Amino acid sequence: MAILEIRLEGDEILTKKSKLVENFDKKLHILLNDMQETMYKSKGIGLAAPQVGKLRRVIIIDIGDGLIEAINPEIVESSGEQKSMEGCLSLPGEMGIVMRPRIIKIKAQNRFGEKIELFGNGMRSNAFSHEIDHLNGVLFKTKVISGNINLFKKKDKSS
Ligand code: CO
Repeated sequence: MAILEIRLEGDEILTKKSKLVENFDKKLHILLNDMQETMYKSKGIGLAAPQVGKLRRVIIIDIGDGLIEAINPEIVESSGEQKSMEGCLSLPGEMGIVMRPRIIKIKAQNRFGEKIELFGNGMRSNAFSHEIDHLNGVLFKTKVISGNINLFKKKDKSS
């Protein structure tokens, strides 16, 4: 396994749409393993392939109760609303309140190409929604609720 470089805001790849995965081969497994190591090392709760420079529809999440891998994830149902404070490994030091569905149902494939269904509520729903946004080139920052913005940067040289 290897730690991959996390692309930061300003990198064009984060604004692009990722492509469907068609080959569930060793290359994909290496990517998943490396993403896993990178996410845990960075203490993230989710990571999408474009964040490590690969425009492929691959996400992983672990909100503290185990790793979930989802290839070609698609939201098939969502309901309710919830506000929560979010951050992103590609926007270090920035946080904001975002509105997302409270419950989410996802159709995806596992690393072997088998069809799976995933459910999320609360924090997991949030994580799925955030990571799937990455596959469509959307950063959470663009969804921070107007009038309730709580974006702050860590101290930089000027402060
Ligand atoms: Co993110």
